[in-house]
Amino acid sequence: MKPSVLRLSLLVFVPLLLSLFYVALMPKKETSMKTYEVFGVKIEKNPSQSKLTDLGVSTWPMWEGGPTKIPWSFKEEETMYLLEGKVRVTVEGSVESFEIGGGDLVVFPKGMNITWEVIEAVKKHYSLKK
Ligand SMILES: *[C@@H]1O[C@H](CO)[C@@H](O)[C@H](O)[C@H]1NC(C)=O
Repeated sequence: MKPSVLRLSLLVFVPLLLSLFYVALMPKKETSMKTYEVFGVKIEKNPSQSKLTDLGVSTWPMWEGGPTKIPWSFKEEETMYLLEGKVRVTVEGSVESFEIGGGDLVVFPKGMNITWEVIEAVKKHYSLKK
């Protein structure tokens, strides 16, 4: 291979490879950061308006509550969409906790016991799966 051909192929392939890496890595990273799971609790950050509409979130009952710390037991799977506020959730039997807040769509599995600590007043829509 002549040096000029080599240089030319580097000029073509290096940017091509870089853009392939970009395409392959970036969207995956964004998706995994938008939706994740902790202790079996599914959390989606800022779901799209169309998803919220499909779920019928605005027709779900509303719950509002100020700062408090209470034990809570999920008798049914519960999906909630937090409009505002901040909650620290500790799953029973764990020393670690995580936070959910305004803009989060969260699914708690049936049978889970947690401590629900409202740090900033919460307004949420919720739906129980019977
Ligand atoms: C949650 O608590 C209830 C009692 O309030 C208990 O019967 C149940 O086994 C607990 N569930 C888990 C997963 O620890």
